[in-house]
Amino acid sequence: MSRVSYVNGTYRSHAQAVVHIEDRGFQFADGVYEVWGVFDGRLADFDGHMTRLHRSLNELQIAIPMTSAALKRVLDETIRRNRVRNGIVYLQVTRGTAPRDHAFPKDVAPSVVVTAKTIDPAKGEALATKGAAGVTQPDIRWGRCDIKTVGLLANVLAKQAARERGAYECLLVDEMGLVTEGSSTNAWIVDADGKLRTRDTQANILRGVTRTKLLQIIAEEGLELDERPFSVDEAKQARELFVTAASTFVMPLVSLDGTKIGDGKPGPVATRLRAAYLEQADRDAI
Ligand code: PDD
Repeated sequence: MSRVSYVNGTYRSHAQAVVHIEDRGFQFADGVYEVWGVFDGRLADFDGHMTRLHRSLNELQIAIPMTSAALKRVLDETIRRNRVRNGIVYLQVTRGTAPRDHAFPKDVAPSVVVTAKTIDPAKGEALATKGAAGVTQPDIRWGRCDIKTVGLLANVLAKQAARERGAYECLLVDEMGLVTEGSSTNAWIVDADGKLRTRDTQANILRGVTRTKLLQIIAEEGLELDERPFSVDEAKQARELFVTAASTFVMPLVSLDGTKIGDGKPGPVATRLRAAYLEQADRDAI
């Protein structure tokens, strides 16, 4: 089956879905994006991602391109046309197309692109059962990582470093030796005392929608949580280490830079939180 993508009001075959060479996303990374998990053809946490999209657009003074209801119709239609049961849908909004000039152009309409992709849930499950490898790198990103921009070059380099070292994710580390987040995930530990810990979002990180959902689940399950950063050493000495994102849910990391975490197998807390997250995300998807 051929893929179909949405570009500025039209559904096109994926190969012909193109934007102009002077699209500011292409030239300046002047745009934002969101990724929704798709559960049985429905969107996980539609509102959480929409709220963050509006915040990102607002921070960059990019106009909201359409109402939430209209955007939901586009996301649903892209999912339907690609027959995605389980996978992700990707939305990108850039400031639009204009002659190249760093300053904002006047009276330009934002560009909107939507793609959908099937992901075999069995692959993620197999990795989560076995546990994945992590590595670390210095966090060299800019000072506004709270905005979900398409300017992801530092994240790309970090993920590539992970791949070259045979790992799944790269945790980014600030100048104090504290983990900020993963290259495309938020990072968590169950510390040596058994307490859950994840970095607070006052720092320069993305407020993950999966992270927010997991905070609710953690509260419901009565688990103790400390929103405080952890160091690479603390991660290596932790009972459990895991990462979260809309595309990977809760993924246990069983090694970090070659050091085994806990007994080298996914731990009970990450395993339980993954199951609880999947159950809720599926139940609440619309
Ligand atoms: N990445 N931190 C970073 C740097 C991210 O890029 C992401 C998401 C997250 C987790 O956010 P959420 O739980 O809302 O997905 C944290 C997406 C999935 C991506 O770039 O593909």
